[in-house]
Formats: sequence, structure tokens, C-alpha cells
Amino acid sequence: MRILITGNMGYIGPVLYREIRNSYPDAEIWGFDNGYFAHCLTNAASLPEREIDRQIFGDMRDFPMDVLDDVDALIHLGAISNDPMGNQYEAVTNAINDEASKAIAREAKRRGVKSFVFASSCSMYGQATGDAKTENDELNPLTAYARSKVAMEQELEQLASDEFKVTALRFATACGMSPRLRLDLVLNDFVACAMTTGKITVLSDGSPWRPLIHVKDMSRALVWGLGREQGGNFIAVNAGSDRWNYQIKDLAQKVAELVPGTEVSINTDAPPDLRSYRVNFAMYAKLAPDHQPQVDIDQAVLELKAGLQGMNFADSNFRESNYMRLKMLESHIHDGTLSTDLKWI
Ligand SMILES: NC(=O)c1ccc[n+]([C@@H]2O[C@H](COP(=O)([O-])OP(=O)(O)OC[C@H]3O[C@@H](n4cnc5c(N)ncnc54)[C@H](O)[C@@H]3O)[C@@H](O)[C@H]2O)c1
Repeated sequence: MRILITGNMGYIGPVLYREIRNSYPDAEIWGFDNGYFAHCLTNAASLPEREIDRQIFGDMRDFPMDVLDDVDALIHLGAISNDPMGNQYEAVTNAINDEASKAIAREAKRRGVKSFVFASSCSMYGQATGDAKTENDELNPLTAYARSKVAMEQELEQLASDEFKVTALRFATACGMSPRLRLDLVLNDFVACAMTTGKITVLSDGSPWRPLIHVKDMSRALVWGLGREQGGNFIAVNAGSDRWNYQIKDLAQKVAELVPGTEVSINTDAPPDLRSYRVNFAMYAKLAPDHQPQVDIDQAVLELKAGLQGMNFADSNFRESNYMRLKMLESHIHDGTLSTDLKWI
């Protein structure tokens, strides 16, 4: 089997290679990326892409479709991948996450790709009060990023067929170490704050709910999607665990417990963060009993702590650094290497 991963040179990709190798030792793995963050290596002793068989560089807006002729399965990670970037570059987010992604999916089907696994997001539930959201609940995407994930899922649902099986994994918020660590994720941010300043400053009033998933467990889910038997030709499923729905203030307290000496400061005057959702992961538990999340919150925090210590990480100003995806893009633009429509110059 030949598996193409788009957007492989980001936070999740390098963790995913290992998971694929474990489950499909004979698979050939190809990657496609334009390398916005390729050099943002953290705890990697060597380039993670030496673990794959072929790396293709390019922009999804100009995707070399003939590559798809030789591919059996596609894992689509490539995207402008969070709200801050999506808000700043809304038109580009639409062009990449919606238009280009749909075009790649259509061609993938036409050219005989059999399995398409899409990294979708629970953020499409938006502000969701009441019960934990199931896949059948109404969507309420509040941002360009979340809207782009909804649009792509809708296209994929139309495309799915007996010959083109589609799995859209609505991921919880990621956390954990990766060879390309990012700190613009709530748990990773809290651990980095605790380690560098001894203080966690919660920017909201701490009440929003956020489901979390460790990056290794995301990879486990993506691998499940590659070969799943159950669920029909198209499935959009919440990927995470019912044990991992947290309120932000409880996450901060948890980190403070595991990084002794940390003080937690909650901004009680902050307007409530509208992005709050509890998610129901029962369908994923039923369909993928052998691929359930395994890393718990204590393990995730302790692993991040050890990882940051191993990097001698001490930058208390990291929220302004290249560990934030938006800052990295802006830094490329400032250096004159990237245009404001996020094309390499
Ligand atoms: N990390 C999370 O919390 C989370 C949660 C839910 C879903 N997801 C989704 O999972 C996927 C991967 O997430 P990640 O955290 O690894 O993101 P990331 O930003 O670290 O990686 C995305 C990769 O896509 C590449 N890319 C972006 N635009 C491209 C283009 N036009 N052409 C070619 N390559 C391009 C980037 O260079 C980058 O390497 C994304 O689709 C994201 O939306 C992530």
C-alpha cells in the first residue's frame, strides 16, 4: 500500500509516520508539504522525514494531481491549521482548506485512491451549551478555520462511494510532544508557562470546555481511518475520549499540580471565550475499540515537561516566538520569503 500524507511536515505528521510503520510495516509513505514549519524542529535528533519514502514539496493550491495515480490511501492533514491563522488569513484559509482540499479529494477519487482520511475538527461545534455534542448535532462553526472544515466534510460526503471510502475525524484539541512541537495549543501552552515563569495565566475566565487528544492518539485514529471496516462509505466521527473533556481552569490546575510551584491566575474579568464545547465520543468508542486514546492527562503533562526540560526550554516570551504558528508565518513574511497570500517568493 502507498500512503500519501499531505501537510506531513507539521506538528502531527512526524508522530504519524511511526504509527503507520507499526500498523503497516510494508506501506510506502509519501509526504506532500510546502514546509511553512519544516525547520521548526524541537526534540528531533534528525530530520523526521528520513522515516518516509518520498517527500514532495509544493503548494496544495497548485497540487501535482498525477501523483495521485500512484497512491492507494491519502491522509489529508494539509491546512491552515488553527483559528489565529485562519482569522488573520481568511481568504487564504478558504483557498487552501476549502477549495484546494476539495479539488485534491475530487481528483483522488477520479484517480483511484481508495481511502481518504481527513483531519477535521470538533471546533465545528462552536459555542455549544448543554449536552456533549454528538455527530448528529447541529454544527455551529464560528471561525474561518471551522467553516473550512465543515465545507470540506460536506464535499467529502458527496464524493464517498464503495470505491472511495472517506473518514473525517473530528479531532479534539491536540496536545503532547512532537518533533515539531507547537505551543499555540492550550495544554502545551500551560506546561510551557508553568516551566518558564512558574505561573499559568488563563486568558479567559477559565469556564470554557475543551476536549483534548494526545498527538499519538490522533495518529492512532488516523491509522484506524485508513483501514476501517465499519461505518459505511462516509463517516464523520468525533475523535477523542469522553474522559478528556476539560474546563480550561481545571486543565490549568492539573498542570500546576504536576509542575510543582506553579501559580494559576484566571482572568475573571475576561469576556467568556465563545469557543466552548463538550463532545461525545461514544461513536468512536464503538467503531474503533482497538484504536482508543491511551495517553492520559498526567502522562501528557509529564511528557511535555520532560520534553521541554530536554530542550533546555526557558523562553518565557514564547507566545511571541516561532512556536506559535501565526508568528512563524509572520516571520517568513517579514523576512520577505513568504507573500501575504502565503506563497513562497
Ligand atoms: N492540532 C490540533 O489541535 C488539531 C485539531 C484538530 C484538527 N487538526 C487538523 O489536523 C491537521 C494537521 O494539524 P497540525 O497540528 O499538524 O498542523 P500544522 O500546521 O502543524 O501542519 C500543517 C501542515 O500543512 C502544511 N500546509 C499548509 N498549507 C499548505 C499548502 N497550501 N500546501 C502544502 N502544505 C501546506 C504546512 O506547511 C504544515 O506542515 C490540520 O488539518 C488541522 O486542521 C489539528
